Order: sequence, then structure tokens, then C-alpha cells
Amino acid sequence: MPYPPSFNLDQLSEHDLIAKLESELLPKHVAVIMDGNGRWAELRGLSRIEGHREGINSIREMISQCLELGIQALTVYAFSQENWNRPTQEINALMGLLEHYLSTERASLIEQRVRFQAIGRLESLPQSAQHWVRTTERETVDCNRMVFTVALSYSGRAEIADAIKDLVLDVRADLIQPDQIDESLLRQYLYTHPLSDPDLLIRTSGEKRISNFLLWQLAYTELCFTPTLWPDFRRREFLLVLLEYQQRERRFGKILNAVSL
Ligand code: IPE
Ligand code: IPE
Ligand code: MG
Repeated sequence: MPYPPSFNLDQLSEHDLIAKLESELLPKHVAVIMDGNGRWAELRGLSRIEGHREGINSIREMISQCLELGIQALTVYAFSQENWNRPTQEINALMGLLEHYLSTERASLIEQRVRFQAIGRLESLPQSAQHWVRTTERETVDCNRMVFTVALSYSGRAEIADAIKDLVLDVRADLIQPDQIDESLLRQYLYTHPLSDPDLLIRTSGEKRISNFLLWQLAYTELCFTPTLWPDFRRREFLLVLLEYQQRERRFGKILNAVSL
């Protein structure tokens, strides 16, 4: 189905859109490249950090929508390893925002029974950010309604390199024999283990690239690109994307409904 869908959904309320979703066809794991915060701010004559700040409200809405629909895993790309190449002022503001988000949002995550975890080279984050990441992970560890994963200082290639490094150490320690190495074993060394691969990836802001996100895990993920800037991506558009996702035929290389030759 083209995006936006060809039938007219404009008049439908959020409630009606939810009613159109088929619960058994919902993605179990949604991943998001939250892009366009800077442009959102620049369009309004604001500083880029105001765009990042507003983007937090979109994250909140997405978490609550996932909870409402019973989507069990949400993984968001918040800061890439390449983002360290941005101006120091923006990096510092982003780290400050991360700490503020974690320190103020913890209570709400616990109340909603959302488990928080961070993936990436977290040792590169400032000490205070690492502290809030660890604290939030620890305090939400028993929350079991949904897993909310935030990729920080994350690189898909670095994740694969780190997995190989750990695997080699286990081979050297004689815990694993080289002939045991296969896809399912390597998967266990990824940061995302034991999460299932994302069923749906959404990237906002009109860019049509992966930008080094979850390179292994996205092998068979349905991709959805929308021109909407992340701070404007809210519940209603998420529902429209889910409706689009439900129209996709996930074939995984097979032929579905094949007529005999
Ligand atoms: C995404 O928004 C957030 C991060 C990468 C931290 P951007 O900051 O990339 O916003 P644009 O793409 O410049 O508009
Ligand atoms: C990707 O956005 C990273 C995050 C959303 C955290 P970027 O804005 O950094 O990606 P590029 O530079 O456009 O590929
Ligand atoms: Mg960007």
C-alpha cells in the first residue's frame, strides 16, 4: 500500500484508526530512527536543542501508544557513534537532555511497567549520563509490560565488531568451538540479545538511509520512511504507519499463496 494509504483516513479519529488495526498483525518490535529535530527547530527559528527537547514528547507518545496496543518492544536511535562529530555544544546539550529525561522520567517508566535499557558503547558517555543509564536500567529491571531500548553512542558496525571480539574471547577460553559458530550463536553476542529482530523500522525526516543502525537485526525488517520531522511524529501518524505495515506481505524469501506450476 502506498504511503500515506490511498483510502481516506484523514477523517478517522485515533479511536477509529485503532479499530482498523488487526491485533494479531501488529509488530512485536518497532525500531525508530528519530531524525529531523534540528530541522524542526530551524524552521521555527529556534536553537537545535529545542528540537531535541520537543522530540522527547514524541518518544512519550510512542511509548504510551505501544503500551496501549500491546507492542512489547520499542528501540529508538537517540545518538550514533558518528554523532560525536557534531559541535561540542550540541553534544553537551544532548547529554544534558538525556540525563534530564532519565532522571525525571524514571518514575513514569516504572509506573507504566516499562523496562529501560541502553545499547551502544556506553563507556563513551559522560560519567553522569552513565550513572543515570545504569540507575534507570536497575530500577526498571522488573518491569515487564514493554522493553524500551535506547541506542546511545551506537554503531551497527561497532556492535558486530564487539560481538566478534567477545566470541573470539570465548573461543580462546575454550567455551566455544569454532565449528559451533553460526548465525544463531553470533546473534547471542549482539547488544540487543535476547530481543527479537524489529518487525518494523520507521525513519522520520525524509532521509532514506539506515545510518549504521541495527545492521544485523534489520535483515528482514519492513522499512517505513516518512517526511514528517521527529518532533511532529505523534500518535496519529504512528497509527497510520502501523496500518501501512499491516498491508505489507512479509515473505522472508518464500512464495506465499503459490499456485502450482
Ligand atoms: C535527530 O535529529 C537526533 C539526533 C541525531 C541526535 P537531528 O539532530 O539529526 O536533526 P536534523 O536531521 O539535523 O534535522
Ligand atoms: C541518525 O540520524 C542518528 C540518530 C537519529 C540518532 P543522523 O541525523 O545522525 O543521520 P545522518 O547523518 O543524516 O545519516
Ligand atoms: Mg539528522
